[in-house]
Amino acid sequence: MKIGLNNFPKEYSYIKEQIDSAISSVVSNGSYILGENVKSFEKNFSRYLGSKFCVGVASGTDAITLSLIANNIGDGDEVITPNLTAYPTAVGILNSGATPIPADVYNFNGLINVDKIEKILTKKTKAIIPVHLYGHPCNMDSLKKICDKNDLIIVEDCAQALGAEYRGRKVGSFGKAAAFSFYPTKNIGAYGDAGAIVTNDESVYNQLVSLRNYGNIGGYLHQIRGLNSRLDEIQAAILNVKLNYIEEWNNKRTINATYYKQNLKNELILHEEKTVKHAHHIFAIKTDRRKGLVNAMKNNHIETKIHYPITLSGNDTIDINQKTNLSDSIDFVKKILSIPMNPWLEEKELFSIVRIINDFYDR
Ligand SMILES: Cc1ncc(COP(=O)(O)O)c(C=O)c1O
Repeated sequence: MKIGLNNFPKEYSYIKEQIDSAISSVVSNGSYILGENVKSFEKNFSRYLGSKFCVGVASGTDAITLSLIANNIGDGDEVITPNLTAYPTAVGILNSGATPIPADVYNFNGLINVDKIEKILTKKTKAIIPVHLYGHPCNMDSLKKICDKNDLIIVEDCAQALGAEYRGRKVGSFGKAAAFSFYPTKNIGAYGDAGAIVTNDESVYNQLVSLRNYGNIGGYLHQIRGLNSRLDEIQAAILNVKLNYIEEWNNKRTINATYYKQNLKNELILHEEKTVKHAHHIFAIKTDRRKGLVNAMKNNHIETKIHYPITLSGNDTIDINQKTNLSDSIDFVKKILSIPMNPWLEEKELFSIVRIINDFYDR
């Protein structure tokens, strides 16, 4: 039995008829860019999240870039983000012209360590991008306090956390804007690249609508420097189908995560705050014996991956504020290991994954 981190064919067979009909209706309808499907997805997505506005864009990376530009952040500005995140978070910042400044993370769950942020603020700091890593929301109360005190904006990186909640409220409405990715592995994934931004600020929304479409303000007039970063009609039609399943699929992820938490050794489990509803995008464990465990899993045809093997500061593109101590993030990436997590895992597969990990530790 081969068990992957994801199981795309199983998902497709579950919704095949709806997906096939959504795609064929776009193709036969003949409207491929910024049509009715994008409009309806934006409406459905903002309604699901409880946000006023949504703008569909080409990727999660662009969603970060455009969110910053729409808030006048760019050349000469610094944006703080956790040292442990998918590298595209940093690309999103770099593409706006701003400089990403990595902050350390908590050693118990890998999320941005709020207590270490104030030390690395400079006159150039304009924003913080918290990343709800693995689907676990960041400590938004404390972050908001720091941002209010220092006149900084928050742009949430929600790429891994669709449907996650902090104190009963869905992530995506805690800052000026929030970036979502529909990269195929995400809790709802496109069949290609896609992303979205949500905001409650109408002027930011208007900027974003223009920015994603060459800076167009109507007719052939362009007032600002924009991008070509539109969500395609085909991807929007697909996402409209999948959005109907997000709660059902996230619930299955939670059931699978609960099984892992109840049956794996406590020392392997990352800390989960009581204030959150986790989206369980990735199930990462913390192990001191990673190499051996990876081999044991491989020998039993179970896929594992490291999210992420290096921190942002491990890349030449990233400047470090010398005042920051990034040791927890650097230590954390040496120990984490992601095991299969998706809504399609069967009981016998979960049982087998747990047995192999426990046997390895009992050896
Ligand atoms: C935390 C995080 N931020 C940003 C991104 C970028 O999204 P995309 O691949 O859609 O550009 C991703 C996913 O790849 C991600 O996991």
